Amino acid sequence: MDNFIFHSPTEFIFGRGTQKEVGKTLKRYGAGKVMLVYGGGSAERSGLIKEVTDSLKAEGLDYVTLKGVKPNPEADLVYEGIAMAVKEGVTFMLAVGGGSVIDTAKAIAVGAVYSGDFWDFYCGKSTPSAALPIGVVLTIPAAGSEGSCKTVITKKDADGLHKISIGSELIRPRFAVMNPELTMSLPWFQTACGVADMLCHIFERYFSNTTAQLVNAYSEAIMRDIMDQALTLRVNPDDYEARADIMWAGTLAHNGLCGVGKEEDWSSHRLEHEVSAFYDVAHGAGLACIVPAWLLFVAKRNPDMAWKFAINVMSVNPQGFDTDHIIAAGISALKDFYHDIGLTTSLRELVGKEPDIEAMVKSLEYNMGPSLGKYVPLTMDDCREIYRLAL
Ligand code: NZQ
Ligand code: ZN
Repeated sequence: MDNFIFHSPTEFIFGRGTQKEVGKTLKRYGAGKVMLVYGGGSAERSGLIKEVTDSLKAEGLDYVTLKGVKPNPEADLVYEGIAMAVKEGVTFMLAVGGGSVIDTAKAIAVGAVYSGDFWDFYCGKSTPSAALPIGVVLTIPAAGSEGSCKTVITKKDADGLHKISIGSELIRPRFAVMNPELTMSLPWFQTACGVADMLCHIFERYFSNTTAQLVNAYSEAIMRDIMDQALTLRVNPDDYEARADIMWAGTLAHNGLCGVGKEEDWSSHRLEHEVSAFYDVAHGAGLACIVPAWLLFVAKRNPDMAWKFAINVMSVNPQGFDTDHIIAAGISALKDFYHDIGLTTSLRELVGKEPDIEAMVKSLEYNMGPSLGKYVPLTMDDCREIYRLAL
């Protein structure tokens, strides 16, 4: 196990009815003027925005509203939000939604207290030195942004499309309100995409060359539970206990706990971010295509964790079989799981046409440099091959 610091100070307020207390929680955190950020309408239709604004009003909190965040959120709305935050004197960001909404609120949080262009942080010109505090009411377990220090924004400019992730402890949410009941209005496809995303957040840490038996053991337990509960929800989407497990697992998958003391990989995410940037598909749906192809490719060079994964997570019986057979059975079982929850593992099928692999590799190299990953470092030729395997 490598040396590590684990500092994940978000307060999680979990369970039925918790969204009704958000005003009190903001007050406890000393919020002045709040910016309420949300998405394309699901939170309005479910009545959640009314519950949240009622709760703010009950505490006498002043707020402004920024709505219309789209999945794979873009820089344009961030600029709009920054201008509004500065003009209105906003002192606290409140994101009501999923990863796209939270990441937009995080980008506004760093941009509103910076004299330059917020994109400086994403293109590597500058590092955030201050941020408005952020609170979250989570409506979809997936990205783990409610407990992470990351934000992912897409910008289009003369050089192409850039979907870029940055991290800073300044943007880790102060609190996250998590009521599993709020996730029952999700279309099944979004639940499935969320499951694929949270699993991948663990894969990026599990597939590592660092020895960390305890971390691997609880990571395997979380992965197995996510798959079990996803299959339960496939049959009964209103099962509260399964919703609760999936919601908490999404946070544990990405708040750093599964990566302590380990070298992390992140190539599947970087490969996928090009797919969702180019074809505007859901991030989790892209991962379901990329991950099996990535695993097939890297297991040939580094079979160790792929073998463990097959046996300990995908329940492959190793008796009488050689390593290659066990790994192949593990990858096949993972693909079966994605299919069972209604996701395709074919990139061509996902984007509905022949994906432009050359353009994605070119953009990947522009955005991320000439190599990716740690479990097996990948060249751009390797990435091209993984995209082909994912077709
Ligand atoms: O916009 P509305 O109408 O709210 O609809 C949303 C959206 O269409 C809908 N939805 C959310 N909660 C709902 C609901 N519909 C009905 N009932 C509910 N309770 O779901 C759709 C997807 O929402 P989105 O926020 O895009 O999903 P997700 O949480 O998967 O976020 C994806 C974004 O997060 C980034 C991804 O790249 C992508 O841009 N990620 C962020 C990370 C981070 N900040 O740490 C890490 C991840 O790896 C990921 O890259
Ligand atoms: Zn992800």
